[in-house]
Amino acid sequence: MKTRSSGKIAFVSTRDGSGYLQIVASKSEISEEAWQVVKNLTQETSILVSGEVRADDRSPGGVELGLTGVSVIGASEDYPITPKEHGTSFLFEHRHLWLRSRNQVAILKVRNEVEKAIRDFFYDRDFHLVDTPILTGSIGESAGNLFSTEYFDLGTAYLAQTGQLYLEAAAAALGKVYCFGPTFRAEQSKTRRHLAEFWMVEPEVAWNDSEDNMVLQEQFISYIIERCLERCAEELKHLERDTSKLENIKPPFPRISYTQAIERLQEKGVDVEWGQDLGAEHETVLSEEYDLPLMVFNYPREVRAFYMKQNPDDPRTVLNNDCLAPEGYGEVIGGSQREDDLEKLLGRIREENLPEEAYSWYLDLRKYGTFVHSGFGLGVERMVAWVCGIPHIREAIAFPRQMQRLYP
Ligand code: 4AD
Ligand code: MG
Repeated sequence: MKTRSSGKIAFVSTRDGSGYLQIVASKSEISEEAWQVVKNLTQETSILVSGEVRADDRSPGGVELGLTGVSVIGASEDYPITPKEHGTSFLFEHRHLWLRSRNQVAILKVRNEVEKAIRDFFYDRDFHLVDTPILTGSIGESAGNLFSTEYFDLGTAYLAQTGQLYLEAAAAALGKVYCFGPTFRAEQSKTRRHLAEFWMVEPEVAWNDSEDNMVLQEQFISYIIERCLERCAEELKHLERDTSKLENIKPPFPRISYTQAIERLQEKGVDVEWGQDLGAEHETVLSEEYDLPLMVFNYPREVRAFYMKQNPDDPRTVLNNDCLAPEGYGEVIGGSQREDDLEKLLGRIREENLPEEAYSWYLDLRKYGTFVHSGFGLGVERMVAWVCGIPHIREAIAFPRQMQRLYP
């Protein structure tokens, strides 16, 4: 609770998780003891109150509570987060308390809606949720940013960078599957888009090619946004999100190939060459022209993971795509059609110097009834940050894990 008071009347702002309620206490209408309790309330004290609910147009939620009785459940002395401005680093040191602040509550509520929308989208479309392991023996994405740990007598285990490889096995069993859980990358970068631990939702679909994969992404993103607009209007308003920008987000999304993207960047005077990966600055320049997410497809194979299918029409490239959110939010999805040819896949594993033994099971999927399949991964924090219109993804998760932060 927070309190304001004059000599005869006191206002107490309260929160119970379901919403906010203003309590009004009149000195003349309550016992002297209750008045003393109200007058001495400090920020974040937990209290039990009784009173009369009254309609009040000016109050958030349209009602206020006329207080009749109050008792203190938990005192709170010198609460560190005051209504004055605090620096970011102070706030993250106090993240366990900062979560109680109005903006943070709004962001967490949007995240909750995003996650429920994700589950509903897939459940309604007959996907099966398959939980993939967090401790793995095979590198999922790239060797560069792995967390590793001792694993009994079996050597090194890695924290999963993705559930994808396991999900491909599950897609052969169940057709349409998805996993949704924490993933780990020992990112050395301190950007506003990178966390060391983030939540990723990854669908994998048997018989989908790269084209189908992009259509699924458009539907998925549009669905999540529609749900947030519908059910988080109050939170988005509190966050001062310009929701007209989100209302636009409907399929189809514009598409350009990587090669076209490079040409476009060069025309704009950006110093970039074919073969280079696109960085955050490139992504921003490319998406500037659009109000919708931009699909950039078929990147050079050298800058993408070993499992992506080689493009038969241009073997320098793979059948993949990144989905770049507008307003500078950048890559929210990375997806691809998977290499289903055993020899080509083995060739890529060798090219990347990945330990072949660890992928023996993965190669089996191509040995025993290989099939066209595709999938993608959406970073939940990036999605939440975009929906909320907040600049940094570290506020999109309750307890962010970053290179320089493990507390609280
Ligand atoms: O593009 P990425 O690395 O793709 C994969 O992991 C594939 N296995 C997905 C698949 O095809 N099943 O990551 C997917 C998404 C990115 O687009 C981004 O939104 C998010 O995960 N992401 C991160 N989010 C926060 N911090 C990081 N360090 C992230 N790295 C990736
Ligand atoms: Mg990516």
